[in-house]
Amino acid sequence: MAIHTLGIETSCDETAAAVVREGRVVLSNVVASQVPLHVRFGGVVPEVASRAHLESIVGVVEAALAEAGVSLDQVDQVAVTRGPGLVGSLLVGLCFGKSLAYGRGLPLVAVHHLLAHVYANFLVEDPPEFPFVCLVVSGGHTDLVRVIDHGRWEILGRTRDDAAGEALDKVGRLMGLDYPAGPAIDRLSAGGNRRAISFPRAKLEPGSLDFSFSGLKTAAARFLSQWTREGGASLADVAASFQEAVVEVLVEKAIAACRLTGTPRLAGAGGVTANRRLRALLRERCTREGISLYLPPVALCTDNAAMVASLGYYMWRLGKTSSWDVEASPNLGWEEGPT
Ligand code: KG4
Ligand code: ZN
Repeated sequence: MAIHTLGIETSCDETAAAVVREGRVVLSNVVASQVPLHVRFGGVVPEVASRAHLESIVGVVEAALAEAGVSLDQVDQVAVTRGPGLVGSLLVGLCFGKSLAYGRGLPLVAVHHLLAHVYANFLVEDPPEFPFVCLVVSGGHTDLVRVIDHGRWEILGRTRDDAAGEALDKVGRLMGLDYPAGPAIDRLSAGGNRRAISFPRAKLEPGSLDFSFSGLKTAAARFLSQWTREGGASLADVAASFQEAVVEVLVEKAIAACRLTGTPRLAGAGGVTANRRLRALLRERCTREGISLYLPPVALCTDNAAMVASLGYYMWRLGKTSSWDVEASPNLGWEEGPT
């Protein structure tokens, strides 16, 4: 009998539920976005987010089961994100997942959100073989991870200050773009010249796989405070040039991580990997370097519960289920394990 995992994700501003078969086949993937609620505030308001999760979680889970054509009796385990994320948001999904699993007598697998992003790479036809390097770029994290096996990894590099997504969101806001500015910069950049303005690329010690985006963010803020449309560069040029500075560093470090560790496979994960220029440049550079590239479809890069279900399934197979007293962990680190 096929194993069905119900995944639940509420770490930030998307209420999501999904049903995945055997950790690999997405039967449903429902995401209720809260963007319209937060847009007038220019960012996610934690109290608004947790209330909205509460209001939609039951309907979203019901929709995921209905779309999958799977009844609760056919669910074998419940996987839910326990961190990192906004504590009020995490609590809604975790409490719901716990209650459902407890009530139905099912195993609970409370998982790490960032590792779940990596598992989006197993939801495609041709997943990467182990080991592979994964560039994990979300709103709050920018990490390079070498994934050795299911539930085993080592951190190769991380940002020392801002995450790439955070830099895109903050500078986009200064450009007058609506939250979330990352996708807006992506769209605007399509019509801009990425060589129009030369923004700085952070130079860290040679050989370091860490990132730093705060200098770039400050340089962009300073540029924008003096910029006038009459000066030559259009808003699209500014967006494209800034995006290029972010993307170039991500790609160069990811390639360097593959070279330094002798790993010929590179995967992408997290919301920023939805970015079209990042995807194009990764393809270009990986082809040149003879590195096999794995990029999940865009809908699986941004927050979703199918990736949570996939990770939950593999951790359940390894016996890494959670106890009923597992807590939401807003600052959950990579070193704290997969569940
Ligand atoms: O992984 P994710 O959906 O949520 C977190 O776990 O944080 O990532 C959200 C981040 C935001 O910073 C958002 O602006 C960025 O991903 N993002 C993008 C694009 N789509 C989402 N950034 C650039 N281009 C995009 N197309
Ligand atoms: Zn995420």
